[in-house]
Formats: sequence, structure tokens, C-alpha cells
Amino acid sequence: MKTIKTMLFIFLSCLTLTLQAQKIGLVLDSYVSDRWYLDKKLIAEKIKALGGECIVEVANGDAAEQVNLSKKLIKQGVKVLIVVAVDAVKSAEIVAIAKEAHVPVISYDRLIMSNDIALYISYNNTKVGELQAQYMLDRFPTGKYVLLNGPVSDNNAVQIRNGQMKVLQPSISNGKIKLLADFILSEWGEIEALMKMDEFFSSSEEKPEVVIAANDALADGTIQALPPDLDRKIAMTGQDADLSAVRYIISGKQTMTIYKPIKPLAYMAAELAFKLAKGGDAVGKTKFQSGSISVDAIFLDPIVVNKANYNETVVKDGHVKASELILRQN
Ligand code: GAL
Repeated sequence: MKTIKTMLFIFLSCLTLTLQAQKIGLVLDSYVSDRWYLDKKLIAEKIKALGGECIVEVANGDAAEQVNLSKKLIKQGVKVLIVVAVDAVKSAEIVAIAKEAHVPVISYDRLIMSNDIALYISYNNTKVGELQAQYMLDRFPTGKYVLLNGPVSDNNAVQIRNGQMKVLQPSISNGKIKLLADFILSEWGEIEALMKMDEFFSSSEEKPEVVIAANDALADGTIQALPPDLDRKIAMTGQDADLSAVRYIISGKQTMTIYKPIKPLAYMAAELAFKLAKGGDAVGKTKFQSGSISVDAIFLDPIVVNKANYNETVVKDGHVKASELILRQN
């Protein structure tokens, strides 16, 4: 009788555990680009569809706060953490704390400098930089360029710049391209870009034909800083296919952006997190190495978007709505 009771107890406990929604924590950096709203929405909806519960926290660009929020989520009983690192190095502390609590960490979109992450999933970020630079080099094989890149605390920014330089360096070395400025900002947002570029335009005698801005927010800041006589006169890159950037592309203020389809990445993160939460493995497709870091990784391909193809790319995918593009002229 006692054995039957014990077995029943074990069975019921297991059943409760299975029926209980698996909690998965998502810790974002900030909402500096439109894309992060979408990442959050898609990850949460997929986890819910799988029968889990996604608890979201946002660090607002504060690396120490991101550690605290991660601790809080672990205390709340999350089985897995998906982290968009504010700072590649400082976020390694999150992984160490999570490891103690047996909570696997997925390094989402940005690399966390720790060999203990379960998986790093992102886009090919070097390719992002190569595509931006190649687009401009094909159209302006000679001329004056400005580079405007994101913070080195985000490993993506480093990889993107490496990709740009891989393409541009030969032309810089042989003098065909003159780099008027090579800015590396401390944030991804438009304000610092606006201030830097405003200062640049008012102090530089020479004007660039090309600004390679690493993402759409940096391009936006540059557009806002442009003196009126340079409006639509400078070719400009971007990244993220933010709604405002696609509008700028249509109106000729920005030349191109790099579109990184969010859905496949977000759904993959949700599915892998769910699998890990249930005790399974998350296996990468490749090994990613950076210095002493060697981790399992999966990379998706970025896509060039310009005036000629925005309809069959970002509109077709529902990344931006056609109706939102005709509402406002800028
Ligand atoms: C980068 C990411 C970009 C952009 C930027 C600003 O890490 O690769 O897509 O969103 O952050 O948040």
C-alpha cells in the first residue's frame, strides 16, 4: 500500500512539473532600435505557443543593472536565460551566476565573452559590415568617406567595423578613398551620432560623399545633423530596417539598410530555450572563436535593402507595413 502511495505521489509530482509552464527569462539591453520590440514580441509569443512563460526585463543600457535583473529572474525560477548583452565582457558575470544555479544562457544576437554560454545565435555580423562597405565601394570607388560605428562594448560593432575595413582598406591604402573621420560611438542611439556629426559638419572643410553608418539610428542622427545644402547629397548606409530608415530610403535621405529577418532568430531562440528548459541540448551549427572564446554558434544571413527591393524584402516579410510607408513623407 505504502509503495502504491509513493508511486502515486511521484507520478503526480512529475505530472505537475510537466504541466507547469516552463519559465524562460529574456533580458534585453534597451529599445534603442525598433527591432528589439519585435525580438521581444516574437520570442515571447513562440515560448507561449510552446507552452512556456517568458518573463522579460530591460536593462536600459546599464550592464550592472542587467546582472541584477538576471539574478532576479533566476530567483523567480527561470529555467533558461536569453540575454542581449549590454556589455560583452561584463555580461560574463551573468553566465557565471546562472551556471551556479544550473540555468543555461543563450547569447542572443550579441556575443557574451564566456565559454560557458549554451549557445550564441546571431547574424553574420562581419558580413553586415562587408555588405555596407561593398555597396558604397561599388558606387563610389573613389571619394571621401566617414565611418560611424557602434560601441565596442557590443562585439557586433567590432565585427561590423572589421567587415567594413576588410572591404575598404585596399582603397584607403592606395588613396582612392579618403577617410575624413572614423567615429566609434559609446552608444547605438541617434543622439550621440547627431552631436558627433553636427560637430563634424561644422568643423570640417571637406564634405563626404559617403557616410557608412553602422545602424539606422546612427544614420538617423547623421541625417538630422546634415546642413540643408547636403540634404540627400550624401550616400548613407544603415542596419536594422527600422521603419524610419525605410521611409528615409524611399525619400532618398538614406541609401540602403541591412535587413536582418528577426522572426527566424527569435523563434530559434525560443525553441532552443524551451528545449534547454526541458533538459535537452542546444547544438550549434558552427564554432565561433574570438580570442580565448570558443562557443557553439548559429548564424543567419543579413540582406541588403534599398529603394529597388524594399517591397519584396521588408514589406513582403511584414517587417514594416506598406501602409506605414505612405502615411508620412520625410
Ligand atoms: C547591435 C545589433 C544591431 C542593432 C544595434 C542597436 O548589436 O547588431 O542590429 O540593433 O545593436 O541595438
